[in-house]
Amino acid sequence: MTQPRMTSIPSAIAAAADYMPYAHERLDDNAWAYIASGAGDEITFRANRAVFDDLALNPRVLADVRSGNTALTLFGKRFAHPILLAPVAYQRLVHPDGELASVQAAAALEAGMIVSTLASHTLEDIARHAGAPLWFQLYVQPDRGFTRELVRRAEAAGYSALVVTVDAPIAGIRNREQLVRFQLPEGIAPVNLCGMETPAPIPGAKSQVFDMLMAHAPTWKDIDDLRAATRLPLIVKGILRPDDAERALAAGADGVVVSNHGGRTLDSQP
Ligand code: LAC
Repeated sequence: MTQPRMTSIPSAIAAAADYMPYAHERLDDNAWAYIASGAGDEITFRANRAVFDDLALNPRVLADVRSGNTALTLFGKRFAHPILLAPVAYQRLVHPDGELASVQAAAALEAGMIVSTLASHTLEDIARHAGAPLWFQLYVQPDRGFTRELVRRAEAAGYSALVVTVDAPIAGIRNREQLVRFQLPEGIAPVNLCGMETPAPIPGAKSQVFDMLMAHAPTWKDIDDLRAATRLPLIVKGILRPDDAERALAAGADGVVVSNHGGRTLDSQP
């Protein structure tokens, strides 16, 4: 970061999207490629933006709006409005304070925050800075014992829901990351996974994908196991089909997040 730190909001910024050019100027190509790109040819990534732009509101006029508000109770917690920061990994890529700053911003705006398994601060440190309701996003790890330990840590740190991401058994293959040979800079790491051992090779395995990744990828049995392992509300994230949503609820999930992962994992999804 070569630019000076800003202490006030630049006058050219009115809406969140106006931050994009500022971020692009201040981040190096490596961080920008990770933060601002989608999987493959970015067909889904671009379509997401277009679909949001196509959403139309259909206002009803002259209603009595006194005492109107956006507050709601979700899984036993009161929210001023139905907005939580989505889980985003490695936030120290864009600012040294990373998730510790995001969680304070969430509190300032009365939003909740979903903390990524791949956060660049520990889930405990983030919870200590939190003034907002926190949910923990879980990636099921090849070591299921380590996975249960992450759940236990999230419970102990006061997280109030578990969001299990099921659409990314492998990290998305992103052309723009490949072009800059993206790698995590020195000093930025998935610190919550510290101490986790990489799985032992499977005897006779020939293919990284068919023998290794697929052997460790989560299945519906993991949802059953997590349901049995925690009393936290369990939310399954990355569902795109009605039959999968029904299956998640039948497995005891309290909710689903309909998502294509921002177009960041598998391209050409709806
Ligand atoms: C991503 C994963 C880490 O989208 O969720 O980069």
